[in-house]
Amino acid sequence: MCGIIGYAGGQPALDVVLAGLRRLEYRGYDSAGVAVLADGGLAAAKKAGKLANLEKELADRPLPTGPTAIGHTRWATHGAPTDANAHPHLDNAGRVAVVHNGIIENFAALRAELAERGHELTSQTDTEVVAHLLAESFSACGDLGEAMRQVCRLMAGAFTLVAVSVDDPEVVVGARRNSPLVVGLGDGENFLASDVAAFIEHTRDALELGQDQVVELRRDAVTVTDFDGVAAEVRAYHVDWDVSAAEKSGYDYFMLKEIAEQPKAVADTLLGRIGADGALTLDEVRLPAAELREIDKVVMVACGTAYHAGLIAKYAIEHWTRTPCETELASEFRYRDPILDSRTLVIAVSQSGETMDTLMALRHAREQGAKVLAICNTNGSTIPRESDAVLYTHAGPEVAVASTKAFLTQLVACYLVALYLGQVRGTKWGDEVIAAIRELSAISTQVEEVLTTMEPVRELARSLADKETVLFLGRHVGYPVALEGALKLKELAYMHAEGFAAGELKHGPIALIEEDVPVVVVVPSPRGRSVLHDKIVSNIQEIRARGARTIVIAERGDTAVLPYADHLIEVPRTPVLLQPLVATVPLQVFACELATARGNEVDQPRNLAKSVTVE
Ligand code: F6R
Repeated sequence: MCGIIGYAGGQPALDVVLAGLRRLEYRGYDSAGVAVLADGGLAAAKKAGKLANLEKELADRPLPTGPTAIGHTRWATHGAPTDANAHPHLDNAGRVAVVHNGIIENFAALRAELAERGHELTSQTDTEVVAHLLAESFSACGDLGEAMRQVCRLMAGAFTLVAVSVDDPEVVVGARRNSPLVVGLGDGENFLASDVAAFIEHTRDALELGQDQVVELRRDAVTVTDFDGVAAEVRAYHVDWDVSAAEKSGYDYFMLKEIAEQPKAVADTLLGRIGADGALTLDEVRLPAAELREIDKVVMVACGTAYHAGLIAKYAIEHWTRTPCETELASEFRYRDPILDSRTLVIAVSQSGETMDTLMALRHAREQGAKVLAICNTNGSTIPRESDAVLYTHAGPEVAVASTKAFLTQLVACYLVALYLGQVRGTKWGDEVIAAIRELSAISTQVEEVLTTMEPVRELARSLADKETVLFLGRHVGYPVALEGALKLKELAYMHAEGFAAGELKHGPIALIEEDVPVVVVVPSPRGRSVLHDKIVSNIQEIRARGARTIVIAERGDTAVLPYADHLIEVPRTPVLLQPLVATVPLQVFACELATARGNEVDQPRNLAKSVTVE
């Protein structure tokens, strides 16, 4: 949510910053801006709307080139997305420029104090106060890093900042509290950005900044301190993917590419974690087996799509390990005073590792003495840093705002954790679990198989482009899949879409069924828990009798659904609990195609941003 970047080095800084903003645009696309230090002055440009508007402005009115620059792509919090509210913000003398990600909670008080001291603030943002405060502190101490530390001590809230001053032209200063900020270490050049994607084409060597740290970046040096000026330790790491992973590589949209990458993402997440004998090795999970044996409750916390992965995990954990498991929306968790103690394992699921609701939930859990395990896709991000243990998913960078490959890998990680818990705790494993492990280790082939049969799904989606509502039904693990299908459709096609547990239908939602309303039904396997299968077949008949157009996702060979399916989407056979790995894929394709047919922006749906760093 908001992408920020800073550069100091030998290349034309503006070009580097603009290229970085292109890769950060998924974090917010309400407005964009840049500031460059050149010819002894500070020049800035900013525009409401997508980055393309700023690029056009710069083509019409070019800025001078120089070796130091900062940039921003915005997801508005305070103040509408206008030119005036776009970042960077400058002080009245135009000597300091700052970009910001987060919310400065005490900005109103700071603004009033600045106004009393004669400053004129012209935007409605919380960020502008920082430019004025930095200019004041800088004129007193003459050191931009020290000025940033002083200003950080005055502020409350979440504020990741990057600033430059015309009076200290070789330095870019950054500060980090809560929202992400990483350093890219180049050869004679250095970078600061919300995400390594911004500088991946220049370097894969990065430094992970900690909470409440200030960094001073020069082309040949990087120094990091805490807010009091004490030198701080930072972790260096090498990014394990390259620039090609962050490019569309011939696909029209990142989302299409990321859907296609799912078999590899799933295989990479499983790699090295299941032995030939079916035993699991999760070395990075630094929670000792003795502690895991003491756990008497598991709580999954997450948001959005990651929450749906958590809902599915509940079925797997309880069934395979017989350990009670709850799944909770991270944004609700800490406010209801949940019962947690040292025997509770909280599992925080997050693609970005920066989602503020999830971060706050895990902090609350740790304060109550619970152990926290993060399932995360982003190396070095805040959620794994602040957890007791982490299991990384290996989906690679996910750029499209709608989560696809990250979701499938979150599911894989949840299954691995469930199986590992069972292994460590000595849960008696029957043939069913042994078969599930065997099939999980080969599941990427089935995901691949689903992808080869998607043309009819695309055709169906196009034929529904003028519909207003699509409903989704499921039972057991098919219920969270239905929720995920509805979420994808809402965020991409801007259609009314709702997911229901099929058993709940008769308790109210069936009133929504009318002539020709499309209803997607995720049908569990007729094998295993066949009672569920029989019940959902009855549900399909009930809605069809009321005029619904049924779109049935069922296991290949499930002939019982045939008479009631207006459209049938077959998926490969899997163990019951693993079905979401194959049943979700057609729903992703369906939503993507419907969005395209309705003329929507697939990768950057309206009002959204990836990585939601505000509560
Ligand atoms: C939906 C989507 C969001 C995210 C949610 C959590 O397609 O992408 O619902 O799943 O914002 O994000 P992470 O996983 O980064 O914590």
